Amino acid sequence: MSFSDPDSFVLVPDQSLRAYNTFGIDARARWFCRAQTPGQFAAVLRDPRVAGMPHLVLGGGSNIVLTRDFDGVALHVALTGKRLVHEDDEAWYVEAAAGENWHAFVAWTLASGFPGLENLALIPGTVGAAPIQNIGAYGLEMAERFDSLRAVELASGETVVLDAAQCRFGYRDSFFKREGRDRFAITAVTFRLPKRWTPRADYADIARAMDSSEAGRGSATPRAIFDAVVAVRRAKLPDPAVLGNAGSFFKNPVVDAAMFEALRAREPQLVSYPQADGRVKLAAGWLIDRCGWKGRAMGAAAVHERQALVLVNRGGATGAAILALARAIQDDVRTRYGVQLEPEPIVV
Ligand code: EPU
Repeated sequence: MSFSDPDSFVLVPDQSLRAYNTFGIDARARWFCRAQTPGQFAAVLRDPRVAGMPHLVLGGGSNIVLTRDFDGVALHVALTGKRLVHEDDEAWYVEAAAGENWHAFVAWTLASGFPGLENLALIPGTVGAAPIQNIGAYGLEMAERFDSLRAVELASGETVVLDAAQCRFGYRDSFFKREGRDRFAITAVTFRLPKRWTPRADYADIARAMDSSEAGRGSATPRAIFDAVVAVRRAKLPDPAVLGNAGSFFKNPVVDAAMFEALRAREPQLVSYPQADGRVKLAAGWLIDRCGWKGRAMGAAAVHERQALVLVNRGGATGAAILALARAIQDDVRTRYGVQLEPEPIVV
């Protein structure tokens, strides 16, 4: 391969992944490659040095726990670019390459006059990772603004285009965490941003932050919501650049109505959100907090002081230490409330 070949690549042996996961876990990959074109994914996997080895596609590394060195090839998604691809009477269609930083992309859409993603401001990670767990915050899930995505099927090197139905989005869930796991590298995502913009400002924390700001009061503009979301996240959630973490470590569990009534009889303060199907979502952070875990540590792995749903690396924690803490929390919550907490990040 020559350097004029856009799909030529550099394979680095024995690379630390510490800078490539927001927990800051110092696991190593036997081989590492930055993929800057869609074609590089399949090209790397045909290289005789790594052919047949397991692969790990890494975006911003903001939703992963590395529990061991990776005996295979880590593919870091470094594709960039963002643009308006199309507009009609109803919506703007905006595409971004998978390696674009999510928050910078959200800020760019607003600055370009395409609102609709402001509730998802400041979520760590990349555009390409957003569909994998269907990121969500403050009353909005990515799936509601999703149009389609492009991905490379790693085994065949074929490009596929998937719509929302094919991605099978659920709460912090998609096809890519299930049947599609380890099979694709997402290369670009297109969002559909409706021209008839309506604010989503009813989430209690956001409504409060808007009330207390001059700009927000009385006028729910996209910018005011963006600013409120940024302020709330900064106040509650640790910045991964300062304190390693992967956002919420557990999903909020959903229980049936009978279970909910029984729990509420014991715990009148229980924080809950009724679901359309009659079941009830519980705030895992509240349950963990109530079990006394907020701010507690096991070695270098700890529960964040301001949000019990977030586990943090106080420095030098291994993935195994983080999982040990997670298991202790799960055991306590199960024993006390009969509720099984399910981790949100992917465990490797
Ligand atoms: N709570 C406590 N103690 C805590 C943490 C929370 O009592 O230590 C209570 C809060 O007072 C509140 C309720 O639990 O009444 C819910 O807390 P919060 O509003 O902070 O949201 P969350 O349910 O803990 C979810 C998402 C977050 C998202 C926020 C806002 C999940 C797993 N997490 O957290 O998403 O930012 O709502 O929409 O659904 C992520 O997925 O990584 C993430 C950060």
